[in-house]
Amino acid sequence: MVQTSSLKALVLAGGRGTRLRPLTYTLPKQLVPVANRPILHYVLDQIAAMGIREVGVILSPETGDQIRASLEANPWHFEFTYIVQPEPLGLAHAVQTASAYLEGAPFLMYLGDNLLEDSLVGLADRFLTQGLDALLLVKEVEDPRKFGVVVLDDQQRLVDLVEKPKEPPSSLALVGVYFFSPKILEMVEGLTPSWRGEYEITDAIRRLLHHGGRIEVVPLQGWWLDTGKKDDLLLANRRVLETLRDQDIAGTLEGRCVLDGPVVIEPGSRLRNVRITGPVVIGKGAVLEESEIGPFVSVGPGCRIRSAHIHGAVLLEAVTVEAASLHDSLIGTRAVIRGTGTSHPQLKLLVGDDIEIVLE
Ligand code: TTP
Repeated sequence: MVQTSSLKALVLAGGRGTRLRPLTYTLPKQLVPVANRPILHYVLDQIAAMGIREVGVILSPETGDQIRASLEANPWHFEFTYIVQPEPLGLAHAVQTASAYLEGAPFLMYLGDNLLEDSLVGLADRFLTQGLDALLLVKEVEDPRKFGVVVLDDQQRLVDLVEKPKEPPSSLALVGVYFFSPKILEMVEGLTPSWRGEYEITDAIRRLLHHGGRIEVVPLQGWWLDTGKKDDLLLANRRVLETLRDQDIAGTLEGRCVLDGPVVIEPGSRLRNVRITGPVVIGKGAVLEESEIGPFVSVGPGCRIRSAHIHGAVLLEAVTVEAASLHDSLIGTRAVIRGTGTSHPQLKLLVGDDIEIVLE
């Protein structure tokens, strides 16, 4: 029996997050919440379930303190090692930056903005017992041009990999979760940057392949979301909310409230004349009045919502929405959205922290 505790984890929580601007000017994308929990915490749940204890976290100089603070409570009891990557020069560069921490141990590399439905527990055993140099997860995607893409032969063996190909040779994308033996550390040395200026992990894996590394490719069964863009993040919020089964109402309901389907209302929140269609979560101390919420809405702690219709949305902390209809929207902390009524227009927004939008 191989011990998965011999496996280290390397979580990549640096990067620039340009595709989620303006939100990521103030909040690292790994801390954007879905169902009111930071994405990064779901990543760490997965790692904890695998029995891994040592976790290295790649940080950027700009957002490192926020990531550390969000991990401080450490309910997983991990032994964290924080590693600052001076510049986001690519995934292979992140591995190279972490080489002292990795110290020749096999490891699981997990992109801190990726969410997976499937448990990875069996895969860690498979990787270790078979003595592989890499175990890669892949998933069929609609637009492979946005991902690292693998080419397999008819026996599902890896033949080639291409990073964000203009003309994809297959529709199998590399999921942001990789198992590596220490051999990958040799492969990330001396790489040249790609056309987009990054040291690509796909180049390191191709090298590993050409050096006779033992690589297995495993198709993922459940959903996988790379939450780097607004619509993917909203879809992640939807997928996680879909796992809610029951109602858990700890807040106060006043007037005529109708709650349908799975709804979580955290303590200290107050609802008056509100209709909620689950799945919906409402954070601590939120106040909602005369509104229709759901499905697929996460309302952050301390939000104020009045005379509004909201569906398919993520509201961070202390957001105000008044007399407005929102859908497919991601709204930053303390932002204010004030409309003229709920019949029109239907707003679809990506709004950064502290922004005020007033319709007249
Ligand atoms: P990406 O989404 O590929 O890169 P990014 O964060 O720079 O985003 P954008 O393209 O929107 O600017 O990164 C995937 C994950 O890996 C994410 O959690 C950030 C992290 N990362 C690092 O830690 N170091 C790096 O050098 C890079 C490129 C990413």
